[in-house]
Amino acid sequence: MQAGASPRGMEFAAKWAELVFIAADGIEGNLAVRTELRERARLAGRNPDELRVCAAIQPIAGSTNIDAASQRASLLAHIDEASAVRSLARLMHADPASIRLQDPAVDFLADHRDATGSEGFEDMLAAVCRREGLTVRDLALRQSFDQLTPSPTGSGADIADELCEWQDAGAADGFVVTPAILPGSLADFVEYVVPELRRRGRLPEAEASPTAPTLRSRLSSKFRPLGEAQAFEPQLTD
Ligand SMILES: Cc1cc2nc3c(=O)[nH]c(=O)nc-3n(C[C@H](O)[C@H](O)[C@H](O)COP(=O)(O)O)c2cc1C
Repeated sequence: MQAGASPRGMEFAAKWAELVFIAADGIEGNLAVRTELRERARLAGRNPDELRVCAAIQPIAGSTNIDAASQRASLLAHIDEASAVRSLARLMHADPASIRLQDPAVDFLADHRDATGSEGFEDMLAAVCRREGLTVRDLALRQSFDQLTPSPTGSGADIADELCEWQDAGAADGFVVTPAILPGSLADFVEYVVPELRRRGRLPEAEASPTAPTLRSRLSSKFRPLGEAQAFEPQLTD
């Protein structure tokens, strides 16, 4: 497994990873990263289908789209601006006293480039801030809310439609579901979105038996179910 989208991270993933976690700007951003990862895997002599890419999302699922929208509004209303700014300053290793909230967020990010140690994550922040014209204040509030990851909001059917669209467009093989609140957001995802994904044939029924396929054997025909699997010995040569 590999997470991240820096050139170095992608190079490593292209050689070794079966599963890659990425965080990018929307369907286009994720499509671009997944396409590059697959191309790098091909150049490394692998079948690109052996490398599955999971996009980070923070879904807000409700019993109806009105319920989801009101959950979203309520979460946003609970963000305290002063704490959000302090948290942004910590993340970007910035002096809180030097932060000018009205400045363009892209300039602030450029001034603190490499602070987080994650190139892919910072690329995503910059892309969203540029596309949406965010100020530093906007960035602080959004960072507190969803770290600027895509946040599909709606009924189970709405969100399932969106995730299927991403998959069909080649933007993701699967998703890393990050919760807005724990455990509520994950419980809502399981209650509202999972049945819709199953109905669309995108998610197999859960199997809780000792012979159930492992995640790895589900992802790749190269790997057999647990118990039959050979020990995996990576050969790290560089
Ligand atoms: C979706 C996603 C999930 C991640 N989860 C973790 C985690 O659980 N623990 C951790 O230490 N790092 C986690 N990371 C950070 C990565 O391990 C890595 O440090 C970083 O993304 C490197 O990014 P880069 O290659 O883009 O520079 C995660 C990254 C992404 C994109």
